[in-house]
Amino acid sequence: TVRPLVIAVDGPAAAGKGTLAKALAAKLGLPYLDTGLLYRAVARRMVNAGLDPAGDASAEAQALQQADLARTDLRVPEIDRGASLVAAQPAVRAALLERQRVFASETGAVVDGRDIGTVVFPDADVKFFITASPRTRALRRHHQVHGGTPLDEGALEAAVAEIVARDERDSSRETAPLVQAPDAILIETDTLSAAEVLDKACETVALRCARN
Ligand code: CDP
Ligand code: CDP
Repeated sequence: TVRPLVIAVDGPAAAGKGTLAKALAAKLGLPYLDTGLLYRAVARRMVNAGLDPAGDASAEAQALQQADLARTDLRVPEIDRGASLVAAQPAVRAALLERQRVFASETGAVVDGRDIGTVVFPDADVKFFITASPRTRALRRHHQVHGGTPLDEGALEAAVAEIVARDERDSSRETAPLVQAPDAILIETDTLSAAEVLDKACETVALRCARN
């Protein structure tokens, strides 16, 4: 039997993981899984219940429903922060692990997150680690959310600080921290367009698949 292809895409906030993973999935005819949505949906459940996302979120992680992931209010600053707070809790991560594996086990998938190549799919066929400077990432997130609205230097600094704080929390937690897997291919995207990142990634996938 041929094992279905699993591609892991990890990296810090707003580096372009989702953009790459979605495009790769479309190109390869694989499903795409955005694992950040799982943590965001848990944080949303906490906030809507009037609970602090820094508190025990294991019940909310257990109760997560498919419909929670389709909510439109998951990509707001409060939930950026809340997601990284619930994501630091080992019980939350444990509750979400199996469903991430099941998602990709039969069909294969392109999966993006923080710990995909290290914890969720340590045997992934290809692993990417996508990054860019905090300034580039803060600008990209701003344009993604606010379109062409200009950003003054003070607001940009605040956005950079938010991103750095979240990366720091994600990188320093004990369980499944954000870290580049030893066998992941690093792509620094500061000076690359999304199309150029996709080209690079496709070259790598083609080489790997030809070799195996
Ligand atoms: O998934 P992640 O948070 O890592 O980032 P994303 O949502 O894929 O990308 C954040 C924004 O950066 C999007 O608006 C992308 O279009 C943009 N982007 C870019 O400008 N240049 C790249 N090389 C990759 C993404
Ligand atoms: O799109 P962006 O990179 O801003 O965030 P995301 O991928 O939606 O992830 C939101 C938060 O969920 C991250 O800051 C992490 O704390 C957490 N997360 C995680 O811990 N592990 C994953 N596999 C995916 C997300």
